[in-house]
Amino acid sequence: MHYSLGGYTPEDIEFVAAFDIDKRKVGRPLSEAIFSEPNCTKAISIKLEDFPVIVLMGNVLDGVSAHMEDYPENRRFIVARKKPCDVVNVLKRSGADMLLNYLPVGSEKASAFYAEACLKTGVSLVNCIPVFIASNKDWAKRFEKKNIPVIGDDIKSQIGATIIHRMLTKLFEDRGVKFDNTYQLNVGGNTDFLNMLNRHRLKSKKISKTEAVQSQLHVPLRNEHIHIGPSDYIPWLKDNKICFLRMEGRGFGNIPINLEMRLSVEDSPNSAGVVIDALRCCKIARDRKVGGALISPSAYFMKHPPVQFPDEKARDMVEDFIKGKIER
Ligand SMILES: NC(=O)c1ccc[n+]([C@@H]2O[C@H](COP(=O)([O-])OP(=O)(O)OC[C@H]3O[C@@H](n4cnc5c(N)ncnc54)[C@H](O)[C@@H]3O)[C@@H](O)[C@H]2O)c1
Repeated sequence: MHYSLGGYTPEDIEFVAAFDIDKRKVGRPLSEAIFSEPNCTKAISIKLEDFPVIVLMGNVLDGVSAHMEDYPENRRFIVARKKPCDVVNVLKRSGADMLLNYLPVGSEKASAFYAEACLKTGVSLVNCIPVFIASNKDWAKRFEKKNIPVIGDDIKSQIGATIIHRMLTKLFEDRGVKFDNTYQLNVGGNTDFLNMLNRHRLKSKKISKTEAVQSQLHVPLRNEHIHIGPSDYIPWLKDNKICFLRMEGRGFGNIPINLEMRLSVEDSPNSAGVVIDALRCCKIARDRKVGGALISPSAYFMKHPPVQFPDEKARDMVEDFIKGKIER
């Protein structure tokens, strides 16, 4: 969305450390690990400069769901039999400004572990997953006390199901349509969708995606009238995510209006295009010595921010934040 953001371009983003738990990634240079199985996205560029970074063993905790064992090795995680590295020490030595959290949905303990490491080292957190940290008062307070910027939670893709569902919901509301029912069904074939077959891990993902839409309505829909969530795993789709969206309402004279939409996107680059902006907002907050949850960037870039705003308003707030007109 911005080539230059506060004077920083995407080329200024430098990888200084990486953590994973998969045996096909740990111990390998980051530039090779990116292409290792079970990764299955379309490559943006196959010739990467040789980052001087080796992927280190993280702390597994609740990062890996047991049901994955039932699937072929090339489609699932395989935990490396290695001792976890000292994440705090690595972060300190690497000189990292921020840590990106892209753990699997449901990694509550593992996310808390990496967030604690940020608090211990002064490293900022950009939390791309639906575990509530920036939007959790206690966590946000701890980051604020230490004056460490944090952006979260659960990244909104460049053009994804959430941003479209929010826009259409707002359109129905602004045009005076009585909104009755909606669903958003999502399918895909990457490890994110495989992981989400375990329904126990889905609680906060459903909250995050549903609140992102409900927040656009003056009177939210009753629970039984809104269904949003990951719906199935279709291996051959790989990183292609397909969203089926339906909205039912009534216009003038109580006459029905129905809308159906199908969106097809490559899932991973779709969020990468947003996270490069989030990272640079975090960096300018650090330059300005501003800490705590960054309200404006979180509202624009994340599905479950500390405070929800309509996207148009959040976009203006981000521009004002970049210009230094608003602090957070
Ligand atoms: N479009 C998007 O890509 C998008 C959008 C919104 C949210 N997210 C969220 O981002 C997260 C990651 O999505 P993804 O598609 O990149 O998933 P992924 O399965 O490709 O990546 C998860 C990675 O985490 C590693 N891992 C598991 N446990 C770990 C641990 N304890 N320590 C370190 N590494 C560990 C896995 O080996 C894997 O490499 C999910 O929570 C997803 O909901 C992604």
